Amino acid sequence: MAKQKTIFFCQECGQESSKWMGQCPGCGQWNTFVEEIASSKKGSAAQKKGTQGAVAPVHLSQVQTEQEQRFTSGFPELDRVLGGGIVPASLVLAGGDPGIGKSTLLLQVCRNLSAQHIRTLYISGEESLQQIKMRAQRIGVFTDSLSVLCETNLETIDEVLRREKPQAAVVDSIQTMYSDSVSSSPGSVAQVREATAALMQLAKGLGITIFIVGHVTKEGVVAGPRVLEHMVDTVLYFEGDRHAAYRILRGVKNRFGSTNEIGVFEMQENGLAEVENPSQYMLSGKPKGASGSIVACSLEGTRPILLEVQALVCRSSFGIPRRTAAGTDTNRVNLLMAVLEKRLNLRLSECDAYVNIAGGIKMNEPALDLGIVLAVISSYKEQTIDEKTICFGEVGLSGEVRAVNMAQQRIQEACKLGFTTCILPKVSLDAMESRQKTQGITLIGVSNVREAVRQIL
Ligand code: TYD
Ligand code: MG
Repeated sequence: MAKQKTIFFCQECGQESSKWMGQCPGCGQWNTFVEEIASSKKGSAAQKKGTQGAVAPVHLSQVQTEQEQRFTSGFPELDRVLGGGIVPASLVLAGGDPGIGKSTLLLQVCRNLSAQHIRTLYISGEESLQQIKMRAQRIGVFTDSLSVLCETNLETIDEVLRREKPQAAVVDSIQTMYSDSVSSSPGSVAQVREATAALMQLAKGLGITIFIVGHVTKEGVVAGPRVLEHMVDTVLYFEGDRHAAYRILRGVKNRFGSTNEIGVFEMQENGLAEVENPSQYMLSGKPKGASGSIVACSLEGTRPILLEVQALVCRSSFGIPRRTAAGTDTNRVNLLMAVLEKRLNLRLSECDAYVNIAGGIKMNEPALDLGIVLAVISSYKEQTIDEKTICFGEVGLSGEVRAVNMAQQRIQEACKLGFTTCILPKVSLDAMESRQKTQGITLIGVSNVREAVRQIL
């Protein structure tokens, strides 16, 4: 028997090599090469199918824009993350930890599409027809526009899609799919790549919108190669604390709209429900009259979200103070505390500090800086901040409060939720037109951290 040829793939960028290497020459990452059995010379399904149908370039002016009519997923939250609805013939990757609700969300999208009489096919390689039916019964009523299929062989799926020509399809999950033309096992880098390439051909060639479910490894990338993200049109990540009910759908890549948009959902008895007012949701458990707590405003895409920033500062019993941050970047918190130590002469190096964005949500916008700083000082001084006060602003290394974008939208969100005072960068306040300033909320512009502290503590 001929010796099986093996090949090495970089899990970060998909670089191929005939031998193992410590550092990838493509992306410079270390220790990312994995061994795969080389695919046979038959030619991949994607390559074979690619030559079917007449392919000719067209003038851009002749391209009809009507073809790009988007359709709704039935979830305004999801439509926004997709950039205004589902683009026909696009390939969307939905990644997330196991059990976060990817299958549930996509089955609900199938229900919404079938309610609009859009022919949809749900292909599962993970669950039996009975299991899908049981889940569907919890979710609601489906029309006959939806068909389900349990299959993991890519060639069979290819054939079914070509025969049935649905308008939308879901492939759950990419890690269970395998192609006969690749000899390695399902879930391997080569198989995942091959399957995605084949589905891309089908999506573009037949005009089917295909949603692919991808599981995420503990490093936080869709298992298998990062290349998957380069191949698809849109990458959505579904994240959230498994123990909390809410889930956040984040657009990481989008060829048809902006990224950074998020959609907020809540896992309920009968599937996922949209959270229309995430700020209210995030602030629901806020304690009253506690020190070390302030509401800050972070912008996700075009949408402002109010969050409670909490800090606990206490004397350190060891030589090296402990610093942890949940929901935001620990290094950023360390940096801000160094700024406070130096500019406000607070003796924070003798203190342990724990910073938390309440609700388990992850936010890294620089506009949260002022919130973190004020929460830390409030806890350090054990003074409470008025609960109707909200703040936002980036803090620089000399303690200056720097401008952030879309101040107006943030203030509006605060007004909507009944906040009466807003601490914001002076530069942002000065840039606003005077008529925008009169809206039932006191706006206090500050140019450095010291001023901000003087205003509210
Ligand atoms: P699922 O969609 O199977 O996750 P994934 O496909 O991302 O692995 O979600 C499973 C979880 O969702 C499971 O822990 C149970 C919960 N769930 C509900 O709480 N309510 C429901 O109506 C459904 C269908 C699932
Ligand atoms: Mg699933």
